[in-house]
Order: sequence, then structure tokens, then C-alpha cells
Amino acid sequence: MNPRFTLSILSSLVAAVALAGCASYPAGNRAAAKLEPTRGSTTTGTVTFVQTGGGVQVSGEIRGLKPGAEHGFHIHEKGDCSSGDGMSTGGHFNPGGKAHGHHGMGDHHTGDLPSLKADANGVATFHFESSTIRVGGTDNNIVGRGLIVHRDPDDYKTQPTGNAGPRLACAVIAAQ
Ligand code: CU
Ligand code: ZN
Repeated sequence: MNPRFTLSILSSLVAAVALAGCASYPAGNRAAAKLEPTRGSTTTGTVTFVQTGGGVQVSGEIRGLKPGAEHGFHIHEKGDCSSGDGMSTGGHFNPGGKAHGHHGMGDHHTGDLPSLKADANGVATFHFESSTIRVGGTDNNIVGRGLIVHRDPDDYKTQPTGNAGPRLACAVIAAQ
């Protein structure tokens, strides 16, 4: 094929994808996190965050989990996965200075998300709405923070971590 023609098809495709991405929500209100395995882990995944009128729509698919098990899932303070074990993301994102707890119930960190539930194949597919976090703005803005999948279930009461064990996957939440 004529290389110039190929290029023109490619740029039309890129334009179409960009338009589709912006059709529903204004720019700056979407973010995504690409989870990479920590050392010794095979957990991967992608999570998207879309700010709407009612809250943030959070959707994702995470693989390489323990089949049938629950896994703690949090936004952590720092968008830094450089340590290789997820520890460089620091503690749970907690701008309100609250205790650790359940997402959307009573006292909880801004970064406390609903736990992941893996199916028989070790895959967690989920969608939930959050009125705790925000994409953009100043208060509770999750852009630039870390996202962590833990090995163990969150007990929702051990302070300040939920006792969810080692960190299986890490991502930086990036604006889209
Ligand atoms: Cu965590
Ligand atoms: Zn917490």
C-alpha cells in the first residue's frame, strides 16, 4: 500500500478514537491506571475513573489474582511505583485525616476502595460509583496518586492498613 495513504488512514483513525473518547465527558475528567506486577507477582490490570455529575464511575479488570479470593484495593498517597514492591506509594490516600474503613460507609480514608473479588480464574471485573474520590479539582483528587492491589482481604478495621498484606500490583493514576 502507498505509505502516504496508510498514514492518512492512521490519522483518521486517531482522530476518530480521540473524538469518541471526548464525546460523553469534558476533557480533564477522566483518568486511568495501568497496574503492573510487583516483584514476584503476576497481577496486572487496567482501571478507569470517569467523573460524572453523581460521582466517579470506576471500572476495571484485574488478572492474576488468587482464584475465588478477596483482595484489598486502595488508592495510596504517592504516585510512585519505583520501589518494585509497591511500598513507595506510601500509606492510604487520606487527605481528611480519617480512620481506615469501608468505602462510602462511616469513617474511611478517601483511598479506601471496595475490595476486589476474584472469580475462579483469578480475574476481578468490576464497576462501582464513588462519591468519595474526585478526578481533577483540588479536594480528594486522585490524579497522580498510586493504586495498589493487595494479596490479602481488607478487614476494614486494622489501622491504618486494613491488614491486607503485601502489594501485588501498582499503578500511577494518570489524567487522560
Ligand atoms: Cu493499600
Ligand atoms: Zn485505608
